[in-house]
Amino acid sequence: MELVTPGQAFEQSYRDYIVELGDEERYPFPLDFEHQDFPTLLARLDNFAKGINLPAGYVPSSTLWLVDRGEILGVTNIRHTLNDAIAHCGGHIGLSIRPSKRGLGLSKVLMAKSIAFLQQRQVNEVHIHCYKDNQASGRTIIACGGRLDSEIEVGDKCVQRYLIRL
Ligand SMILES: CC(C)(COP(=O)(O)OP(=O)(O)OC[C@H]1O[C@@H](n2cnc3c(N)ncnc32)[C@H](O)[C@@H]1OP(=O)(O)O)[C@@H](O)C(=O)NCCC(=O)NCCS
Repeated sequence: MELVTPGQAFEQSYRDYIVELGDEERYPFPLDFEHQDFPTLLARLDNFAKGINLPAGYVPSSTLWLVDRGEILGVTNIRHTLNDAIAHCGGHIGLSIRPSKRGLGLSKVLMAKSIAFLQQRQVNEVHIHCYKDNQASGRTIIACGGRLDSEIEVGDKCVQRYLIRL
C-alpha cells in the first residue's frame, strides 16, 4: 500500500471511486472537482500542490491517493501551510476511505502517511479538525497521536481541534 501522486494510470479506479461515493458528501474537497476530463483534473490537482491559480482563501495542498495493486483505497488532501482561518477551522489534513473499504483500519494507515508527509516538510505541529459527531474520524486522529486541544461551534455543529507535535 502506498501514497501516490494522482496520475493517468488510475483513471478507471478514480471513476469507480466516485461512483461508489454516490450521493455521499465528497470529502476532502478535491473529490468535488469535475473529473470527466481526467487530464484537466490532474492538472488542477498539480496546480493546487504548486500553489498556482488558488481560489481566494486557499493555501497550497497536495492531494494524494492511497493505492494497493492499482486500486485507489483512499484520498488525502494535505495543506502545506495554514492561514489564520484554516488554523481556526480546517486544519492540515482531510481524508476519506472508499466506502467498500471502510472499517478495515485503512484511515489510520492513510492518516499516519499524511502526518509523515508533513513531518518530511518540517511541519512540527499538525492541526487536525473533525466534527465531534464523526466518531470514526475522531478515533482515527487519536489513534495517530492526536491530542484534543479545543472545541468550537461552527453553525450548529461542534468541531474538535486536535494537535500532534512532531
Ligand atoms: C472517517 C473514515 C475516514 C474512517 O475510515 P475507516 O478506514 O473506516 O476507519 P478505520 O477502519 O481506520 O477505523 C478508525 C477508527 O474509527 C473507528 N470506527 C470505524 N468506523 C466507525 C464507525 N462507523 N463508528 C464509530 N467508530 C468507527 C475504528 O474502530 C477505529 O477506532 P479504534 O482505533 O479506536 O478502534 C471513513 O469513514 C470515511 O471516509 N468517511 C467519510 C469521510 C470523512 O468523514 N472523513 C473524515 C472527515 S474529518
